[in-house]
Amino acid sequence: MQRRALIVGNWKMNGLIAPSLLLATEIQHHFTANLPRYRGCDVVLCPPFTALHALHQLRESNEACWQLGAQNLSVESHGAHTGEICGAMLRDVGCQYVLVGHSERRTLYGETDQLVAQKVFSALRNQLWPIVCLGENLVERQQGHTLTVLQRQLEVVLSSLIEAHTSSDQLASLTLAYEPVWAIGTGHHATAAQVAEVHDRLRQILHQHLPASVADAIRLLYGGSVKPDNASALLTLANVDGGLVGGASLQAADFVAIVDAAVPSES
Ligand code: 13P
Repeated sequence: MQRRALIVGNWKMNGLIAPSLLLATEIQHHFTANLPRYRGCDVVLCPPFTALHALHQLRESNEACWQLGAQNLSVESHGAHTGEICGAMLRDVGCQYVLVGHSERRTLYGETDQLVAQKVFSALRNQLWPIVCLGENLVERQQGHTLTVLQRQLEVVLSSLIEAHTSSDQLASLTLAYEPVWAIGTGHHATAAQVAEVHDRLRQILHQHLPASVADAIRLLYGGSVKPDNASALLTLANVDGGLVGGASLQAADFVAIVDAAVPSES
């Protein structure tokens, strides 16, 4: 099945409003100058919360061919939750996508598989498309537990969605991002063989739990030290539908080069 390529820039906690606008504008200029090439793919920028509104306005005032995503959301929908941001607020500020369960949220802020599943619900309730991050740490990889860990992380999310009778359309709006923790920000990306093994297994698990049309529609991204020089080898593998890019998404030229590597030129 042909899935649209998806390349997501996760800016993490980088960028005040002015430089964020500059970066988005530079990226946008490149896309608008080569518009037909990018019609077949989705590009999503995930700036810090504080820059979302400015980027939303930039999108609205131009023929933008990228969409806006947030890096996190609350499981709650409103009320006394100081410091939290709910899904409705993200929709309100123009987000279409939201990252859920990034490994930095899991390791630094104690997010469990169960909390990640609840956040996926929060996203879907607000018509946001969740990008669910999964990944093993170095010890888990060295001890041979990679596939078991990923299966556990994915099945907690899938079983809660299935138990709640989530519609096929909502399930198909999920994206999974495989981000080995040891590859994030280290310059040591996973090899093509490692990525292929994990992505094939993730697709298999999806097929075990979901109708074939839904399992085939869900996009699988790779993230972890994706750079212009490795993007083509990693992001064009059979079961890889694009990338989740951290550090390299902070430089317009690098990010655009990664998008170009991931998107076949005839699309
Ligand atoms: P790097 O591309 O900097 O390794 O970060 C990956 C990541 O965490 C994206 O979410």
